[in-house]
Amino acid sequence: MSGHHSAANLLALSESGDYYNVALDLYDRGSRRIQRISEWVDDNLAGLADSITCTLGEEEDFMVLSVGPGDGFIDSKIAQHLRGLVHAKIRVVVLEPDSHMMQRYQDLVKKESAKLQGVNFDWRQQTFQEYQATAEEDEKFHFISCISSIYYCGDLDKSLEYLYGKLHVGGLLTIVLMAGEGGFGRLWEYLNKTLGRKMDFFTSTDVEQACRRQNIPIADTQTIRITSNISACFDLPQQLSKGGDILLDFLTHTVNFAQNTPTEYRDEVLGYLRSDACSGTGPTGEVIFNGFDSAVIIQKQ
Ligand SMILES: C[S@@+](CC[C@H](N)C(=O)[O-])C[C@H]1O[C@@H](n2cnc3c(N)ncnc32)[C@H](O)[C@@H]1O
Repeated sequence: MSGHHSAANLLALSESGDYYNVALDLYDRGSRRIQRISEWVDDNLAGLADSITCTLGEEEDFMVLSVGPGDGFIDSKIAQHLRGLVHAKIRVVVLEPDSHMMQRYQDLVKKESAKLQGVNFDWRQQTFQEYQATAEEDEKFHFISCISSIYYCGDLDKSLEYLYGKLHVGGLLTIVLMAGEGGFGRLWEYLNKTLGRKMDFFTSTDVEQACRRQNIPIADTQTIRITSNISACFDLPQQLSKGGDILLDFLTHTVNFAQNTPTEYRDEVLGYLRSDACSGTGPTGEVIFNGFDSAVIIQKQ
């Protein structure tokens, strides 16, 4: 397939400022993405904690690095699980550049203080890139979480190399991001091929390849099955509801996808989106998108 030159000028969603957040929020609510990741944490963190092979002195802190935790809904759960499982004293270094999000995380910690006794938070309102430029070299961690935030950390190979270098031997790095072998990974690969447009988002396939290139050992990759009803995206462009319109922009990572793409191209993409490469069918014929995430678990050797 070629010749979709007019489509190459479409605006990427990530360049659209606030509209990106509006679309992400709508998708998150429809897919219960945050709850699904949180359930994955509840089901898997004890096992992960068990696999950490670091030995700590009684006076030492178990060190956690939280990259881009947002309002802390998921990362506070991680801290709650680690508490009592790994060590009496836990110190969490929080890297969150958004002051509003940081405040929400701090409010949550106050509210949940009973479940977080023995956990000390070190709030750093900065980006991962700023942290890299200022961090003490010997500050190392036993557990690092990077949940839906690796996308924003800059060059993937460099981020992974740096994060791996920040682990104590036997410690774990957990990266949650869109699965390469899921609806997003497949759709974006398709858009990439047909549009010739490079998506500025990574999937788990990119992380796996980057790890292989740098001999970073992946201990495990787990699929977090997140699905959502996207039937509203398939109405004719002039009949699309506001919700269907925004959802389609989010899925295709393109501003005003329905209105701005040539019809033939749009129909091809919609056909692929509803095909079993990306979606399944619900009990009453709904199109159910497989927006799976992957949890990539890396252990320092
Ligand atoms: C999609 S949200 C994910 C939030 C949370 N981890 C979750 O899964 O609910 C991405 C988060 O990364 C933060 N972020 C953006 N750029 C960042 C950077 N350069 N370094 C660290 N965090 C960043 C954002 O402020 C936001 O809180």
